[in-house]
Amino acid sequence: MIRFPFTIILLLLSVNGASAENYYLQAVKSTRPDDEMLMKSREKVKEYKKVEIQDDLEVPPFHKRGDWETESLKKTFCTQCHLSPPHTKNLRSRAFLNMHTQFIACETCHMRPEGVDFDYQWVNYRDQSVVEADAGLFRQPINLQKKQNTPDAEKRKTDVLVKIAPFKDNQTAMILNSHAFAEQTTKIWETGSEEERVKRRAIIHQPLKEKGPQCDACHQKDNPLLDLNALGAEKAQAKRILNHIVPQFFKRYKEDDQKIRINSLLQ
Ligand code: HEC
Ligand code: HEC
Ligand code: HEC
Repeated sequence: MIRFPFTIILLLLSVNGASAENYYLQAVKSTRPDDEMLMKSREKVKEYKKVEIQDDLEVPPFHKRGDWETESLKKTFCTQCHLSPPHTKNLRSRAFLNMHTQFIACETCHMRPEGVDFDYQWVNYRDQSVVEADAGLFRQPINLQKKQNTPDAEKRKTDVLVKIAPFKDNQTAMILNSHAFAEQTTKIWETGSEEERVKRRAIIHQPLKEKGPQCDACHQKDNPLLDLNALGAEKAQAKRILNHIVPQFFKRYKEDDQKIRINSLLQ
């Protein structure tokens, strides 16, 4: 009598365990797009143009595209469709945002659903493994006084494939382009019908925001989005990142088309 329900419970538990997917996939797969979502997505799919990057455009020795750009972004799910680097529209911030894609996952900035708390860790994009928090992972020097080729320089572990990514329930809340769902998405994108593409685009963007956070979501002392100490930053490093003059400067812009002269940086 007792054994029967017990087996069922065990069975349910194991099925549940086997399909425990990360936050992003769960959110995507549980999305049932309504007509409005599909209509919006249809417009976006129509406006989408695949842009081919010309590799040989540089005139030596000027403007050579850094290899890190392609190297760093090619394992990302998002760059299956988005440019690498992806930001083009906002002339003022795009260079800074693209720079951040070297060390911050797209999902860290674009996936911020209300009422959900993530924690953030360094992730190796080669295999999605967690990289232990370490001061050397930051670009920001550990100690400003020491010059290159000192033991301080040797502590540097920066790597364009190790980035700060969101975690939920001890799992990374994102996927890489090698994931089965990403491969299926490429297939739909390349050979699916328009309706299949519209639906897929709708669900993969459902947990995402159109715009990432403002600079001062991260670059300020009170309750910043990222806990730099937990990511391994030493006190002085964290202080320099939080107080960096460039994002402070961005706070002065109140209008989209406002122009601020460079010499007012000194005021
Ligand atoms: C299967 C293709 C595809 C994938 C994969 C994809 N996107 Fe998009 N995305 C689009 C299209 C198409 C648009 C609309 C046109 C455009 O902006 O190029 C878009 C638009 C956006 C926008 C602009 C806002 C908007 O809604 O128009 C953001 C932000 C964005 N995507 C982020 C991401 C992020 C982050 C990922 C990875 C988690 C991702 N996308 C993965 C196809 C894709
Ligand atoms: C440091 C935070 C940050 C990171 C990391 C980031 N984004 Fe963004 N993204 C933004 C912000 C902020 C905007 C809004 C810019 C604006 O229009 O003011 C944006 C806008 C966009 C847009 C709209 C179109 C455009 O040209 O600006 C797309 C598409 C996009 N991001 C894709 C991505 C993808 C793909 C990645 C990862 C490879 C990524 N983003 C990583 C902050 C970020
Ligand atoms: C999601 C959090 C986040 C957002 C949003 C963000 N930053 Fe940053 N930014 C960081 C982190 C973390 C670092 C330190 C990276 C390191 O040292 O490896 C950094 C570093 C920088 C640096 C120093 C780069 C260097 O190598 O010295 C500049 C400049 C900067 N950010 C400007 C901006 C601007 C401008 C914006 C808005 C357009 C912005 N940031 C938005 C997290 C963020």
